[in-house]
Amino acid sequence: MTTIERPTAAGSGSAATANFAGERFTADTTPERLSAIATDVFAGFSALIDKHEITYDEYRVLKQWLIEVGEGGEWPLLLDVFVEHDIEEVNSRKYKGSKGSIEGPYYLADAPLLPAKATLPMRPQDARETPFVLHGQVRDLAGAPLAGATVEIWHADAEGFYSGFAPHIPDWNLRGTVVADGEGRYEITTIRPAPYQIPTDGPTGTFIEAAGWHPWRPAHLHLRVSGKGQHPIITQLYFTGDRWLDSDVASATKPELLLDPKPDEQGRNSVRYDFVLDPE
Ligand code: DHB
Ligand code: FE
Repeated sequence: MTTIERPTAAGSGSAATANFAGERFTADTTPERLSAIATDVFAGFSALIDKHEITYDEYRVLKQWLIEVGEGGEWPLLLDVFVEHDIEEVNSRKYKGSKGSIEGPYYLADAPLLPAKATLPMRPQDARETPFVLHGQVRDLAGAPLAGATVEIWHADAEGFYSGFAPHIPDWNLRGTVVADGEGRYEITTIRPAPYQIPTDGPTGTFIEAAGWHPWRPAHLHLRVSGKGQHPIITQLYFTGDRWLDSDVASATKPELLLDPKPDEQGRNSVRYDFVLDPE
């Protein structure tokens, strides 16, 4: 019997940290805005310390845990699970097109280019799963098809692992950049991902367990959809009936993002999802 090595939190986490740290990000935050935000952050700490009468023991445990989060490379996991959903909500308020959701820690830019009708790169063991087909059209707010729109897709395998982060999976497995046709249409053949478990062996997992929470996200597809002159959307799609839909540890589900695939004539599970993009 072969045992798959469960990727450790430190493994997936530090790969996510290395990927993120390799980028250079800036923000045009003024000193006044930074000061106002920082003042509120510390006022928030003040209020919760007072309300819960935080002890010295708890303070020392917190310091040690925060150090471990950093040393384990788990900041991307932790922040994307507990914070990103609010950032996404606030920043998508002004858009009228398809709903977005969190990016999470496992996006990789420049996934292989694939034609409008494409099968994602997969291992033989992935190919043994029932094929799952996601197809649809990318349009602008006025309903005009966006020729040549790109649908970047990345998702976990049937065991919940992501290529590029779990060391036992080949690069770009179940990832691709699908270029829609002249009518903005695309058809992606892949497999259904399994629900995803936040790695439980690191400090994020220790915390989730200590609090008596569960570490699960419902099964999901990640997508980044772009069209010429349009604001790209980053989103996720979920499946009806998933047991974790109503208690996603990352709070990133929305009713508009649910798929209900049905078997087609060829025995594949198939579902249509159209994307509507806002102008830039
Ligand atoms: C995390 C992982 C995901 O696959 C995701 O979609 C969101 C968050 C995480 O481990 O932080
Ligand atoms: Fe994910």
